[in-house]
Amino acid sequence: MTLTAVLDRIDAGLPRSLERLTDFLRIPSISTDSDYAAACRRAAEWLVAELTALGARAELRDTPGHPMVVARTGGAGRPILFYGHYDVQPVDPLDLWDRDPFDPAIEETPDGRVIRGRGAADDKGQLMTFVEACRAWKDVHGDLPGNVTFLFEGEEESGSPSLVPFLEENAAELGADLALICDTGLFAADRPGIVTQLRGLLGEEVVIRGADKDLHSGSFGGLAANPVRALARIVASLHDEAGRVTVPGFYDGVPDLTAELAAQWDALGFDAGLFLSGVGLSIPAGEAGRSALEQLWSRPTCEVNGIRGGYAGRGFKTVLPAEAAAKISFRLVGSQDPLAIRDSFRAMVRDMVPADCTVEFHDHGAAPASRMDTSDPAFEAARRALSAEWPHEAAYIGAGGSIPIAGHFQSILGMDSMLIGFGRDDDRIHSPNEKYDVASFHRGARSWARILDAIR
Ligand code: BES
Ligand code: MN
Ligand code: MN
Repeated sequence: MTLTAVLDRIDAGLPRSLERLTDFLRIPSISTDSDYAAACRRAAEWLVAELTALGARAELRDTPGHPMVVARTGGAGRPILFYGHYDVQPVDPLDLWDRDPFDPAIEETPDGRVIRGRGAADDKGQLMTFVEACRAWKDVHGDLPGNVTFLFEGEEESGSPSLVPFLEENAAELGADLALICDTGLFAADRPGIVTQLRGLLGEEVVIRGADKDLHSGSFGGLAANPVRALARIVASLHDEAGRVTVPGFYDGVPDLTAELAAQWDALGFDAGLFLSGVGLSIPAGEAGRSALEQLWSRPTCEVNGIRGGYAGRGFKTVLPAEAAAKISFRLVGSQDPLAIRDSFRAMVRDMVPADCTVEFHDHGAAPASRMDTSDPAFEAARRALSAEWPHEAAYIGAGGSIPIAGHFQSILGMDSMLIGFGRDDDRIHSPNEKYDVASFHRGARSWARILDAIR
């Protein structure tokens, strides 16, 4: 059976596959920092060279930002688009890493072998699971899987500014029946999932300014407005006692969890205590009266991602700061409208800013939630294929994170996405000491071989 031969080929090729991934991880493709623009380009070129060597027609496509990589396998078969991103998050705080984030290595840990380095799990290691499956496929079949288009982006971690125009301009070329996206996680270490709903994202930065300079907090304090106090009051007012977001109209478009989905998620037996214990916590802190999976997958949130103002350095300084700022993100669900929420949030903040202060807003992206139509038989075929590879049956799951391209594929290219990934909750994505389990990488490649075999 050729599938068995492809799987054997993946097993035999694992050491070389890991070397290739290590090479890829050495390229510091941090998209949000312009100092790394040349490295982003090198990562795109690295992919073009890999795919060309595999026999695909691969091209680097310039955009106003970082380049896209588009490659096609040619041949016949159901038209499929595979998406991943080659850019990575910044690495700071660097002193919390146990190794140079761009000098990756395989490490032995009590839970097995991992490959450690920035981008190992998000998303270079994940996108390479698909490339390695295609490589083994070609070794066995003589050709790459037919009619597959690869799209690799280099701006996913910085809000994808070039993506929508690129999809619009290249819609004819990129259009397919179905997209495959490898940028999500497993449900549990031994149980894969197909993500059927993703939360959207609205990013806002608020800057409040008071006096035209920092002041002595004794000479001016009590009389002069304090922007940090104003900001703290605003931040504290964003949630009520039950953990609900207070922005007017925020819950417009938030659907009730259907009984069917509630039952499906209950049956997953998610252990919130165990999930939280992995990060040193124990008590769910979300909306009252909602299950843990609802809080993570189907309820909208407002989180403060960062806050600054005044003196927070060593020692003590009695200062009345001139400025205070916060970065705030909202995760959105259902048909919540990011732009309406932005307007409402800004109006609410403006109302609370003291008359003697000014406020400025910076926009950090807005993308609605997306939900997949799983009626395409490829979903069930993929679920069976995954279930054959992993110790436990694959589940339909939600994801708390955001992948705006899944929504753009629906609205611009008219196709749904199968979101299948092999990350674990303890991969430390976006954080120091990011890793990807060798088992995720290996089983991930085997999973794609099975899925390709099942859906074409
Ligand atoms: N791969 C993540 C999204 C993700 C993480 C999905 C975990 C499912 C589970 C992606 O690279 C990411 O980090 N997305 C950002 C949004 C983006 C617009 C900056 C996010 O979710 O914060
Ligand atoms: Mn990602
Ligand atoms: Mn990410």
